[in-house]
Amino acid sequence: MRYHIKDIKLAGKGALRIEWARNNMPVLALVEKRFKKEKPLKGIKIAACLHVTTETGVLAEVLKAGGAEVAVCASNPLSTQDDVAASLAKNLKVTVFAIKGEDTKTYYQHIKAVLALKPDVTMDDGADLVSTIHQRAPEEHGNIIGGTEETTTGVIRLRALANEGKLRYPIVAVNDAKTKHFFDNRYGTGQSTLDGIIRATNKLIAGSCLVICGYGWCGRGVAMRAKGMAARVVVTEIDPLKALEATMDGYEVMTIKDAAKIGDIFVTLTGDINVIRREHFIAMKDGAIVSNSGHFNVELDIPALEKLSKKKKRIREFVDEYILRDGRKIYVLGEGRLINLAAAEGHPAQVMDMSFANQALGVEYMVKHYEELENNVFTVPQAIDENIAALKLRSMGIKIDTLTPEQKKYLASWEIGT
Ligand SMILES: NC(=O)c1ccc[n+]([C@@H]2O[C@H](COP(=O)([O-])OP(=O)(O)OC[C@H]3O[C@@H](n4cnc5c(N)ncnc54)[C@H](O)[C@@H]3O)[C@@H](O)[C@H]2O)c1
Repeated sequence: MRYHIKDIKLAGKGALRIEWARNNMPVLALVEKRFKKEKPLKGIKIAACLHVTTETGVLAEVLKAGGAEVAVCASNPLSTQDDVAASLAKNLKVTVFAIKGEDTKTYYQHIKAVLALKPDVTMDDGADLVSTIHQRAPEEHGNIIGGTEETTTGVIRLRALANEGKLRYPIVAVNDAKTKHFFDNRYGTGQSTLDGIIRATNKLIAGSCLVICGYGWCGRGVAMRAKGMAARVVVTEIDPLKALEATMDGYEVMTIKDAAKIGDIFVTLTGDINVIRREHFIAMKDGAIVSNSGHFNVELDIPALEKLSKKKKRIREFVDEYILRDGRKIYVLGEGRLINLAAAEGHPAQVMDMSFANQALGVEYMVKHYEELENNVFTVPQAIDENIAALKLRSMGIKIDTLTPEQKKYLASWEIGT
């Protein structure tokens, strides 16, 4: 079977939505043009465990244009866009195993199904392919020469694996490219997280107390957008530097214990486990809304909330109402999984343009250089990163200055002082 998807008849709708994304991905279009000519991925099989969204559809086209054979599975059980999966299978003849809402067992069966195709390269978003190969199915290692990793949490997991000397092939950390996390994590997650919360709840952000747990790249983006929408923004952190930065950026900073009492809407973006847990749920106001846009479904301790509750019902799509024993209600969005992908459409194509240009060029780099690379985690080469930024600016019609010879000399010298 070449695909396991919801409904192949959704392919037409998916194709149109992919076309819309493609129109907003000019950098990737330039990569595709070159790939078509040079075919740098000829004969390479790529297993991609990514959110199956319209932008991933465009990336798959680019990889195929480069000569690769592509198999896709979901990197999150709730993030698949079923019409995109159908279009990939029908129109692009890509192998797809992804169904929105798939259970954990199916999720891992799909991961194993793409690995069974004996890929040369893995492309991860959260390191589930790599960790499956390292833990559950070492026999699937087969031909793999290298891989790429899209997100912060995945890079952290892979560095941990490499530090223990157990990583079995080299990985390019796409997340570490500046043209990825400066824009995707900040502006992409910033906008799409609020989009997800609003689509799920239709709540007014203005005047609400929005508690943001984690002031990293993603948290900063959400805070900035929430402030712009006139929320009262509260930040919780564990890193003094980030907490100071949030304070100086004009936000209220406090512990999650204190924030739990005043928040109307909570969102975690930490990559950490049980950031909001039993004692915090107990302290929350009646009607508090809790969500996660960090990683997996572990940032909220939902099992603890289940234990505190006497009843649960799905009151709206992506909104579960938990009634606590004292009658208070707490609402969990998207089962605690990435709300921007569960209830909205993930990041806008304009930022994924740069993230996925890094993916495509990262794979090309891996295919060219894997023999020289140790089994470790590598950043995207600076030249690729800078080139993507320059191309993006050009596509936006923005010109910048260049150094004059005199300035170049001045900036490289130490002799000239006051
Ligand atoms: N929703 C999406 O589409 C999307 C996109 C990109 C990244 N991510 C994920 O979002 C998460 C955050 O990514 P990032 O790039 O902002 O990472 P980051 O490392 O820049 O920021 C994480 C922040 O969380 C803080 N933190 C850790 N534990 C905490 C706790 N218990 N309480 C409060 N703060 C805590 C850290 O100090 C850090 O400042 C990662 O899991 C990443 O994979 C999600």
